[in-house]
Amino acid sequence: MLLKLSKNTYVRQFGRFTYVLDRIQSSDQMFADAEVFLREIKRCPREKDDILREICSAYIKADAEEIAKDFEEFIAPLIQRKMILCGNTPEELEKGEQSFSYEANDPKTAEDSKQLTKQEIDYLPQTLLGEYFEKHPMLYQLQMDITQSCTERCLHCYIPDYNPVYLPLVKIKEVLDDFAAMGGLVITLSGGECMLHPDFDEIVKYARSKDLIVTILSNLTLCDDEKIQLLNQNEVSVQVSLYSMKPEVHDCITRRPGSWQKTKAAIEALRKAQIPCTIACPTMKQNYHDYLEVLNYARSLKMHAITDCIILGKMNGDTSNLACRLDLNETRSILEDIVFRAVPMKSEFFNPGKKAEMLDDEQWMNDKVCGAGFSSLCLSADGNYYPCAAWGGYILGNCNENSLNEIWEASPALLKLRSIRGRDLPKCAHCEDRDYCSVCMCRNFNETGNMFEPAEHFCKVAKINHELVDERQRRMVGNAGV
Ligand SMILES: C[S@@+](CC[C@H](N)C(=O)[O-])C[C@H]1O[C@@H](n2cnc3c(N)ncnc32)[C@H](O)[C@@H]1O
Ligand code: SF4
Ligand code: SF4
Repeated sequence: MLLKLSKNTYVRQFGRFTYVLDRIQSSDQMFADAEVFLREIKRCPREKDDILREICSAYIKADAEEIAKDFEEFIAPLIQRKMILCGNTPEELEKGEQSFSYEANDPKTAEDSKQLTKQEIDYLPQTLLGEYFEKHPMLYQLQMDITQSCTERCLHCYIPDYNPVYLPLVKIKEVLDDFAAMGGLVITLSGGECMLHPDFDEIVKYARSKDLIVTILSNLTLCDDEKIQLLNQNEVSVQVSLYSMKPEVHDCITRRPGSWQKTKAAIEALRKAQIPCTIACPTMKQNYHDYLEVLNYARSLKMHAITDCIILGKMNGDTSNLACRLDLNETRSILEDIVFRAVPMKSEFFNPGKKAEMLDDEQWMNDKVCGAGFSSLCLSADGNYYPCAAWGGYILGNCNENSLNEIWEASPALLKLRSIRGRDLPKCAHCEDRDYCSVCMCRNFNETGNMFEPAEHFCKVAKINHELVDERQRRMVGNAGV
């Protein structure tokens, strides 16, 4: 009997935890003390007896029959879910491989996502991973903004200049080699518009040759049949921005007439080619009446969709792009929809049940502020490393001077970031609205020039959010009493 890891299954070891991710089912699991069982199952077929022999050699004192029984029990559910393939011949295993399909998958929009209890959240693989990374930072995801250049000029964009700067292929390969060697898993190619990079195809192929999960953030205006084929053959996932179903609204945001047509046609071509795609629809003054239509469109295609009304200042401290951000009245009306009429918006801060789970002041002050720098990094087209998308002003080092590993282990700016705790943001530490706010140092930095100084707009939004959630709570209690 032969066994192999499905092409969609990714395994990473984090301390005593083995993390198993199925790329196309978007499901993941965390196993404690299962490294020996999983490390011998590779992408190429292996005889089960050979695998068992290796496992037994790791447990010399244990009974071989017991080990075989435990191993069978361990792999049975993974075989059932086609994460591990099992068969008599390599051809049979190959036939068992599944590809992403919109017919087989029903990706959820934010509207459909179930609100989980605290206990459920505590045992999610993502929560366990977050806790692990806090104690043992490990680079899990790397975003490479491979060019600053772009085909659009979006009103809200945080990129200050669209210079024709391209991260050289040779440097990209070097960083990808390091990333793979460090156990990294997800590579996100972004920009600017990543398809403008002259070596885009080669970059995608190289990242895949390292057995990494590759995702691109793109406006898809350059996505022709050849690019569709490339994405398909290399099993790339896509996130695309679509701002409205009205061409004139989308084009007024991108400031490129005809862009809606191109983007929408490309989305539908991706759908036809069964390439996993998520539609992002950030909301701003120009499109805040339109996002529901975009979500419905996504649902009609069975595509995942996300929306958000958080617009950050530019990476260089210029806040002129914030003119398009919703003002407080507009934000209130959206928040009212979310809180009272269950209109979807991706955020955890509207859940009245959350009150019971809040951290007390002491806990909050000792906790980290966000996950930046614990499991992910960004690399800009000019070679600078920075902590997260949009935080380009906080430079951690440069790929022309230091290897990725050196940055990750020893960048003083990164070590400083990891040491920041709630108490370092005094206004937030004693703020009555902090549980209704997603405190974000990048947001602060780009808008106030100081990562510890809250951006006033978001404080006001948090206050409105707090009021509305309290109001909903009162109504719920009132209704329950009737
Ligand atoms: C910077 S773009 C790069 C990828 C690609 N050009 C695109 O537009 O999808 C990545 C995402 O960031 C969003 N974005 C751009 N500027 C933003 C800002 N100031 N605040 C929040 N999101 C922003 C875009 O709408 C897009 O969804
Ligand atoms: S949001 Fe994306 S498409 Fe729009 S200008 Fe910025 S990088 Fe270009
Ligand atoms: S509302 Fe302002 S002060 Fe309060 S937690 Fe959020 S950012 Fe900090």
